[in-house]
Amino acid sequence: MTATDSSRTTPADITAAAVASFDGCSDPRLRELMQALVRHLHGFATEVSLSEEEWREMIAVLTATGHITDERRQEFILWSDALGLSMLVDALAHELPPGATESTVLGPFYVPGSPRREYGESMVVEAGAGVPAWVYGRVLDVSGAPIAGAELDVWQNGADMLYAVQRPEAEEDHLRGRYLTRDDGTYAFIAVRPVPYPIPDDGPVGAMLAATGRHPWRPAHIHMIVRAPGYKTVTTHVFDEASEYLDSDTVFAVKPSLLRRFVERSPEDPERPRAISGEWVSLENDIVLVPGDDGGAVVDPGRTA
Ligand code: BEZ
Ligand code: FE
Repeated sequence: MTATDSSRTTPADITAAAVASFDGCSDPRLRELMQALVRHLHGFATEVSLSEEEWREMIAVLTATGHITDERRQEFILWSDALGLSMLVDALAHELPPGATESTVLGPFYVPGSPRREYGESMVVEAGAGVPAWVYGRVLDVSGAPIAGAELDVWQNGADMLYAVQRPEAEEDHLRGRYLTRDDGTYAFIAVRPVPYPIPDDGPVGAMLAATGRHPWRPAHIHMIVRAPGYKTVTTHVFDEASEYLDSDTVFAVKPSLLRRFVERSPEDPERPRAISGEWVSLENDIVLVPGDDGGAVVDPGRTA
């Protein structure tokens, strides 16, 4: 029997059937997620008239992403970062009142369990890590009241562009530490001036960046997770306002409210901390937390190194 035109299966019929296949899902949220995923995936393929060759290439890219991913390298999250999805999900999850410190990506180089350090202590373990930086400020609530006993979990790269976790031979606790605020909400530590660096670009994400004419660079920043009982934990950065790449961060993580000035200081400056010699910089950065309690959990389980 010859099929009539009206009995032909159209692309829209295929989409409708795939969406309807989840109608019986008893978990309403899972049903919503799966049906929207199918609608958007099919919408994408339809919009661009995805060819069979392009479909095969996409599968190859996903396969390569799986192959390069292990307990140290999480290429799927790197895709999420480089496509702006990580920042979008973060923005949807953290609506904040005016004045509160904004959140940004965690990134792949956070390692839980940094050493607890004293007020003003240096987290620079290896020599030659960069220009010393005196980083100080207060942790406050939205009314401006100090928060005592807040924890700042800090990590950053050195002048070689690398985080300690990227170098097998590195001192484990180099350029990372956990600091508590004092009764007046103040904190301080010695770091180094961070430098711009490329995200890991030797895998499928790097290939995508190169093929599309995008660069892999992130502007200079220091990472902080700030936790205090009774307040929402914030995962954030402080960016060097003089850095390159602020307007083209490859993971879209720059927010204007997070830019700060690293003030260049001379060796003769009377405010020079005793533990610092030579040229140095200072950075003032207050953090404002909002009330709430999320248990302080921010660790991304798939991405701890
Ligand atoms: C980072 O800032 O450490 C980072 C964030 C996202 C991707 C790669 C690196
Ligand atoms: Fe970083």
